[in-house]
Amino acid sequence: MRVTILYGTEMGTAERAAAAIADALSADHEVDVRDIGDVDTDIDIHRFHIVVCSTYGSGDLPTGAEPFFDRLDDRLPDLTGLRFAVFGLGDSVYDDTFNRGGEICAERLTALGGAQIGDHARHDASGALLPQDQAAAWARGLPIGALTSA
Ligand SMILES: Cc1cc2nc3c(=O)[nH]c(=O)nc-3n(C[C@H](O)[C@H](O)[C@H](O)COP(=O)(O)O)c2cc1C
Repeated sequence: MRVTILYGTEMGTAERAAAAIADALSADHEVDVRDIGDVDTDIDIHRFHIVVCSTYGSGDLPTGAEPFFDRLDDRLPDLTGLRFAVFGLGDSVYDDTFNRGGEICAERLTALGGAQIGDHARHDASGALLPQDQAAAWARGLPIGALTSA
């Protein structure tokens, strides 16, 4: 399967988690890793997408990820056929807004026709697991092999 990993980060944690996911998948899949801030709205729906995104402000997207979703809002591309998974990052000290960043990503892609695959992961910076370790284990459990490659 061809896989694109898009990360949205403020301080680099999501980028490191994205790299761990790429390492976990690259033996079996062709993997491309990109900063979501550098991506236009021409999403190749035939690639499986993994969004790795942290949370800032009051349950907001990282600043660098906002332009991508603003462009999606402007152009409203039809993402029917896109299959994606989300690894969100947050901190449970932010009780009301825990992991909203990844949830916003899932909501926006689903609203445009994308289908979320696998468990929605939520890393907790106040928890015991290192983001890279949780991300690699989660990625190995994704049902990518069951998806038809295009
Ligand atoms: C100023 C600030 C605001 C934050 N707001 C939230 C929040 O509302 N909800 C949440 O779950 N985590 C929040 N976090 C925690 C980060 O999402 C978490 O530390 C994450 O691992 C950072 O990933 P990054 O380095 O890729 O940006 C916040 C962190 C900071 C520093």
